[in-house]
Amino acid sequence: MSTDRTIPGGVTTDHVVSTFVEYFEERGHRRITGSTLLPPQGDSVLFTTSGMHPLTPYLEGRPHPLGDRLVNVQRCLRTTDLDEVGDPTHLTVFEMLGTWSLGDYEGPQSLRWGYELLTEGLGLDPRMMHATVFGGDDRTGPDTPSQEVWQELGVPVEPTVEDNWWSNGPTGPCGPDSEIFLWTGDTPPQSTPTLDDRWVEIWNHVTMRYRKLDDGSLVPLPQRNVDTGMGLERLVSRLQGKSSVFECDVFTPWRLTVPSLWPLDEPSLRLVCDHLRSAVVVIGDGVSPSNTGRGYVLRRLVRRLLTVLWRDDTTRSIGDLPLDLVRHTLDHFRQDVEGEGVRVILLEEEQRFRGLLERGRRVLAQPRFRGTLDEESLHYLHDTHGLPRDLVLSLRSQ
Ligand code: ALA
Repeated sequence: MSTDRTIPGGVTTDHVVSTFVEYFEERGHRRITGSTLLPPQGDSVLFTTSGMHPLTPYLEGRPHPLGDRLVNVQRCLRTTDLDEVGDPTHLTVFEMLGTWSLGDYEGPQSLRWGYELLTEGLGLDPRMMHATVFGGDDRTGPDTPSQEVWQELGVPVEPTVEDNWWSNGPTGPCGPDSEIFLWTGDTPPQSTPTLDDRWVEIWNHVTMRYRKLDDGSLVPLPQRNVDTGMGLERLVSRLQGKSSVFECDVFTPWRLTVPSLWPLDEPSLRLVCDHLRSAVVVIGDGVSPSNTGRGYVLRRLVRRLLTVLWRDDTTRSIGDLPLDLVRHTLDHFRQDVEGEGVRVILLEEEQRFRGLLERGRRVLAQPRFRGTLDEESLHYLHDTHGLPRDLVLSLRSQ
C-alpha cells in the first residue's frame, strides 16, 4: 500500500476506534457496550464470533432500547481460524468494529458511509480497494444495488456466490453481503479477491433480511437489517503501514517482552503471543480450563503454546511472563479481574500439562505400547491413564 495517505505520525488503535465510533454517532448511531466473549444463552456457538451475536433478538424484530442505529466494538474469538494463526491476518481473539441498521437504512447507504470513512476519515487510498458482492443463486437474486454503488464510486467489484452470503451458524439470521478488501501486495493492485489473497478482507456489510430454518429454507425476517463488521487489527496494521496484524500497536508490549524471555522464530513468536493473549482474555471473561466446551478451547490454546515453547527448552514457563503484560491485555479489553489470578490459572494449567506429558512418556515406554497404536490402545490410554488421543499421537511423533 502506498504510504502517502497514511495519517502522519502514525495512528493508534484507540484513535481508529474513536474515529469509527464518532463517524457513526454523527450519523445517528448510538454506541452500545461490547459484550464478553460468552454469547447469550441459547446461542449455538461457544464464543462470540461476530459483533451481531448479542444483537440477534433485535435483528429478529425486538425493538432495541437505544434505537435502530447502533455502533460498537466487540471482542470475538474464532476457533475456525486457529490453524491460520501466524499468517499476517488471522488472530484467535480479535476486535470487530460493528454497525447496525435495525430495519432502518439499507445496504447501499452503509457501503457509501463505509467508503467515505475509509478514504476521507482514515486516509486509505481508494485505488487500493476492491469490493465483492453477492452474484445471486437459485433462491435469491443478485445484489444489484450494492454492485451499482461500487461502480458509481469507481471501486472494482467482483460478484461471487458462497463467499458473499453470511449466516450466523447453520440456522438464524442471514443474507447477502458485500465485502471490502485492501491490497497488501508490494506491486500495484492486480487480479481480484477470489484469485489473489494479497487482497485482504477488512469490512463485511451484510444485508440481513432472512432467517434460515432447520430444514435449510429461508424465511424473511420481520425487518431488513444491515449488519457490518470490520477487523480492527487488520485495519490498524494497514493504517500503520505494517505487513501483519502482529505488528500493530496492541502487540507492541508483547513483541518488546516475549523475545527477551524466550528466543523464538517469527512464526512461533506470533503463535505464542496470539495464544497467550487470547488465553488471558478468555480467562478474563470467566472461563477455566476443562475437557469440554469453552474450557477445552482454552486448554487447547495453552497446550499449543506450551508445545511450541518447550520445543527448544522445557524449562520455559508461563510464570516467566511479567504481570504487566497480563494487565495490559486485561486493561485493553476493559476486564476488571486480577492479573495475578489469571496468571495462577495459566500456571496451574501448565503444571497439569507438564504432569500429563511426563506420565504419557512413561506409559508409552511400556513394551505393550511399542509399534503402531490401534484404536483399542488409544481408548485404553485415554480411559485408564487420562491421556488424550492427540497428546498420545503427538508424543509418538516426537
Ligand atoms: N456479521 C458479519 C461478519 O461477521 C458482519 O462478517
